[in-house]
Amino acid sequence: MSNIHVIILAAGQGTRMKSALPKVLHAIAGKPMLGHVLDTARGVGAAACHVVYGHGGEQVQAWFSTAYPGDSTVRWAQQAQQLGTGHAVNQAAPQVPDDATILIAYGDVPLISAATLTALAKAGADNLALVTVELSQPRGYGRILRNAAGAVTGIVEENDADDVQRRIGEVNTGLMAAPARLLKPWLQRIGKGNKKGEYYLTDVVGFAVADGMPVKTVAAQDAAEVEGVNDRVQLAQQERAYQLRQANRLMREGVQFADPARFDLRGMLLAGKDVFIDVGVIIEGVCELGDGVRVGAYSVLKNVTLGANSQVLTHSVLEGLKAGADCRIGPFSRVRPDSIFADEVHIGNFVEVKKGQLGEGTKAGHLAYIGDAMVGARVNISAGVITCNYDGANKHMTVIGDDAFIGTDSQLVAPVTIERNAYVAAGSTITKTAPEDALTICRAREQKSISGWKKPVKK
Ligand code: UD1
Ligand code: CA
Repeated sequence: MSNIHVIILAAGQGTRMKSALPKVLHAIAGKPMLGHVLDTARGVGAAACHVVYGHGGEQVQAWFSTAYPGDSTVRWAQQAQQLGTGHAVNQAAPQVPDDATILIAYGDVPLISAATLTALAKAGADNLALVTVELSQPRGYGRILRNAAGAVTGIVEENDADDVQRRIGEVNTGLMAAPARLLKPWLQRIGKGNKKGEYYLTDVVGFAVADGMPVKTVAAQDAAEVEGVNDRVQLAQQERAYQLRQANRLMREGVQFADPARFDLRGMLLAGKDVFIDVGVIIEGVCELGDGVRVGAYSVLKNVTLGANSQVLTHSVLEGLKAGADCRIGPFSRVRPDSIFADEVHIGNFVEVKKGQLGEGTKAGHLAYIGDAMVGARVNISAGVITCNYDGANKHMTVIGDDAFIGTDSQLVAPVTIERNAYVAAGSTITKTAPEDALTICRAREQKSISGWKKPVKK
């Protein structure tokens, strides 16, 4: 096990979010910002994470216990009053073993990459290390001070900086690493002799320099990964940066987007070659798309697996579906969890499937509800067919054999079986087994025509 302990600062109130939700619970791609930081910390093999919480701590812990059930690698440290970043780190430091490397991250800097954290942990294994970034607009950030030889000599906060220092473009991202045995005593030495009267974590840089220790720096890969979120505008910017990062990775893996700026992945997507994703598609949970799969505009897929060359046409909403190859789904199809399609299944406009198993080549082209059903191969389900699966108290199964034909506007009152190669006449309400190889017809009244019938007239 590694000896990296990550201290995540998350005590800020987040006033500018104007929200009842603690800032670090605001989501990027459907996952709270704190979850992104925790997952990235895991990804670099952290032995433990220490979350420094303040405002809304109960809400943060409640979210954590549902999102990470049984997790014992996260510890909590309360910072009752926000007296500064140095004070915040000091609330968690006592629970870190002396032989650990401490990494300092932020619950509101969600996009920090595993690569940068790994480089930081390495750079900070024996001395102080900082992640810095060069900005054209460095306003508001602490500036990195270097001597003629290029060695870091300190950090000066915006408020305390003079005009020359304010022109420095290299800024402190706040991400830092140091051996616990060095950082802990430095934390004790931090005072609040600055304009804000706060305990500045950044003072440790001066201590390291005074103690004759080198201060290493790691350059961030880009500005987005070290940007913090203070309001909803920045949250939306981070969301887009994150989505573009995911789309770029998927394109490098062989996925084509009509427009990578109009794609949202809120989970994980495993995609084969030549997958095409049209505009406005949202992918959630864990989805797997085989080679040549096409997903039409404005479709939403959650926990969906599609075999090679299957197509989802526009405006379909699919959840919990495992489909084989060469299926055609949509436009305007709705699939709900626990549905399984074999190869070459087709469902079309306004067809809803729930807990439905559809066999190879089965088709439901339009306007049908197929719920709690086991349907064989090559079945034709015509327009307006409904499985009546709910009796008001319980759900019941409909079983349909291979090669059956269910005529238009038929109701299959479950539990019921339509045997193989059965033919159900249009407009039938089926309550008993429809036997194989036979036509079953069940209509309330035979059709009659009344001649001389008068149309009602408007009064
Ligand atoms: C800090 C750095 C600055 C850096 C900037 C990067 C210091 C003194 N300055 O400044 O050099 O350029 O971040 O964004 O560290 N927090 C707590 N408890 C506190 C204070 C802060 O948990 O008592 C958390 C905040 O919620 C936030 C983070 O620490 O997530 C940074 O705090 P903030 O006050 O925004 O620091 P800056 O002044 O921006
Ligand atoms: Ca800040």
